[in-house]
Amino acid sequence: MDKTSIHGMWSSRLMFILAATGSAVGLGNIWRFPYMASDNGGGAFVLVYLACIAIVGLPILIAEILIGRHGRVSPVNTLRGLAKESGTSRNWVAIGWLGIVAGILILSFYSVVAGWTLHYAWLYLKQLFGGAAITDPGATFTSLLSNPFELTFWHGLFMLLTVAVVALGVEHGLERAVRFLMPALFLMLLILVAYGFTTGHVGEAAAFLFRPDWSKIDGNVFLRAMGQAFFTLSLGMCAMMTYGAYLPRSGISIPRVGAAVALTDTAVALLAGMAIFPLVIAFGLDPAGGGPGLIFNSLPLAFNEMPFGIVYGLLFFGLLSVAAWTSSISLLEPATAFLVEKYGMASRKRAALSIAVLCWALGLLSVLSLNVWSDVRILDRDIMTFIEFIANDLMLPLGGMLIALFTGWALNNTILREQLSEMPEALFTAWRWLLRIVAPALVLVVLLRALA
Ligand code: TRP
Repeated sequence: MDKTSIHGMWSSRLMFILAATGSAVGLGNIWRFPYMASDNGGGAFVLVYLACIAIVGLPILIAEILIGRHGRVSPVNTLRGLAKESGTSRNWVAIGWLGIVAGILILSFYSVVAGWTLHYAWLYLKQLFGGAAITDPGATFTSLLSNPFELTFWHGLFMLLTVAVVALGVEHGLERAVRFLMPALFLMLLILVAYGFTTGHVGEAAAFLFRPDWSKIDGNVFLRAMGQAFFTLSLGMCAMMTYGAYLPRSGISIPRVGAAVALTDTAVALLAGMAIFPLVIAFGLDPAGGGPGLIFNSLPLAFNEMPFGIVYGLLFFGLLSVAAWTSSISLLEPATAFLVEKYGMASRKRAALSIAVLCWALGLLSVLSLNVWSDVRILDRDIMTFIEFIANDLMLPLGGMLIALFTGWALNNTILREQLSEMPEALFTAWRWLLRIVAPALVLVVLLRALA
């Protein structure tokens, strides 16, 4: 009765929560969130972001997981099956294709940035054994970005790590990777937050992050915040749907695990902000306008001052690489699962490798846009920022909106009720209207305003 997925199953509820949290918590929380807040007006951005998580993100997260658990296969095939079962249009399958494309685009630049963190972990490891200290973080960062060979190497290494896990499958790969690493990351963040307190700038950091300056809120802030909400929860490209497919049919309340994942993810982002901004301020850097280099330019300064700073540096960038790793596997898994279904079980390794090679090659565009092609501009953005913009800020919200509409209007009620049997009626109704009207309308307004 409890039909298992051909790709394997999570061994327990906790394992699902760890894997989904592992997917959600990543560069998005510790690298992207702080600099997005930094570039988009601090508190104003954070407030809109929190609202997007609660009103749009969580309902869609629940929808993705339930679609996955009902369908039990990769997104394209799941959506095909569900559309048929509900007697609705086959065109909804487009959500699955959109997700595959978005996942490939995101992984291409995600892996480049994860490569930076691997490189920094390596720099600290070398320091432990007497290597040169990072005395001028700005220069170190610039010199990394200006070297395409070095970037390509670390990007490639990270992609290899990602394929290795996905090729091993759900139980032997994905689960084993997240079990210890997620708690370790959490602990590390708490230590850094505590260190932030010793700088005496926690108040200013909190004011920057939490006191909204309403004049800063414009259409663009909404778009960036919405994009960030989708990105950080791994929503809109069917990654959570794929993880939901490996969930046991019964005994697990989807709204509860969804809420646990969303809360943990938000907590990690806010903690990362509270760990990073006190240091930024303490070292005389401007908390506003830090850009993608924010953590690479500011944290090494703090590590230089801290007792055992080298060990902290190693731990921090090591764990950040790991957080990126448990996320990147969820970017690769949906397309891999799809290829496995299409060409037969035996080829999981080959399936994962083919997609990864494609992402790696696409990632070279991002690598080159940081140096050789840094003058190339598409819609006012360099190539990497452009890919990021299309995938994160446009494709994810669009995918999420379609998932909301599909779940709210097209999916048969019996399926919803069966998947959400533990949910009280009033909550269920509220959730359904959020998906039917509120979330799609908000996303639409944000997309239209941004594109206008
Ligand atoms: N959520 C991850 C992060 O915050 C990134 C990520 C993993 C992702 N899987 C995803 C983003 C799927 C969008 C869609 O770093």
